[in-house]
Amino acid sequence: MSKWDNKHTIEIISPGRINIIGEHLDYNGGDVLPMPINLATQIHLTKTDGKEYEVKSLQFENKLRRRLKDDGLSEEKWHNYVIGVVSELYKIYPNKISGFKAHVSGSIPVGAGLSSSASLTCGLLKALNSLFDLGISKKDMALIAQKVEHQYAGTPCGIMDQYAILFGKQEAALYLNCQTLEYKLIDISLTDFQWVLFNSNVKHNLSDSAYLNRVKETKKALSIIQSQFPHNTHLAKVSLESLKKCKTKMENKVYNRALYVIEEQNRVEQVVSMIAQYKFHEVGEMLYQSHCGLSSLYDVSCAELDYLVDVTQSLPGVLGARMMGGGFGGCTLNLIQRTKVDSSIEMVCSQFKKQFHRDCSPILL
Ligand code: GLA
Repeated sequence: MSKWDNKHTIEIISPGRINIIGEHLDYNGGDVLPMPINLATQIHLTKTDGKEYEVKSLQFENKLRRRLKDDGLSEEKWHNYVIGVVSELYKIYPNKISGFKAHVSGSIPVGAGLSSSASLTCGLLKALNSLFDLGISKKDMALIAQKVEHQYAGTPCGIMDQYAILFGKQEAALYLNCQTLEYKLIDISLTDFQWVLFNSNVKHNLSDSAYLNRVKETKKALSIIQSQFPHNTHLAKVSLESLKKCKTKMENKVYNRALYVIEEQNRVEQVVSMIAQYKFHEVGEMLYQSHCGLSSLYDVSCAELDYLVDVTQSLPGVLGARMMGGGFGGCTLNLIQRTKVDSSIEMVCSQFKKQFHRDCSPILL
């Protein structure tokens, strides 16, 4: 969403995202089902003369002030997302971009698995694209934002977050094929149910080595499979049968990662058809299965996330729950019967507090 004040100023609201199902499939050429949410980053941008820019964020202390062409990294992590976006654009359009001032504020908790960083990079790209009339397509903005994650933030992420933020619509899930980048919007206006997040408040940092290790492990699995079945190009689309035939050639850990990816791809396909038939109890069951795979096969959960999912199993009214996003902390996604939302939140929060002596934070979507 954007609104023009005049041709020197622009304000952009860039959402965060949830992902209904299809975790860690984007960089494995699978399908995903994310959705933009009402938590968002707000960016207010004003053109200035000269070749310098300044960005202040309400969420962080130190403002960023630089020359447009200075692409060196900063000690402050959030600065690097901005530096990445500006430097990449300035490399392509040195004569079209001048200085600017930006104010960033937002409601997306950082490190909670809701894509606060992609929300910032995509929002900034949209704002600069409009302000300087650069004519960049949404697809190219998504690819630039991904490059910024890879090269300036050190996160070798897939393309799901950027697509969800740039192409998603409220009340619709983006059924995205991460191999071809083709997508369909799927209507998902829930009447009897509601999505609720529980933020474990364990902060993750995807530039830590664990995410990179998953990328490497799944690449390894694919290359072993390809040595026997060369026609396979993406792990998520390998058949379970082919994987099983390669089991003896793989370390157990690598086999488990691949098994998770192939089973999760299968769940995405099932969930899409369940949504079309309004079979949300079955969707909920898929969420539990997804969590089980993420925790025991893909090993990206943590004690707090496992607890938040387990505790819902005995709550009438919770259809399903799973950890969401990159993992190692952040939120669980829960599908709850609308009439049972308040009582479920009360139970989950009090049980979590008893267990960990800290609060988790419910977020109603
Ligand atoms: C993070 C990454 C995404 C994706 C998810 C896991 O959000 O940025 O590209 O890999 O983790 O599904």
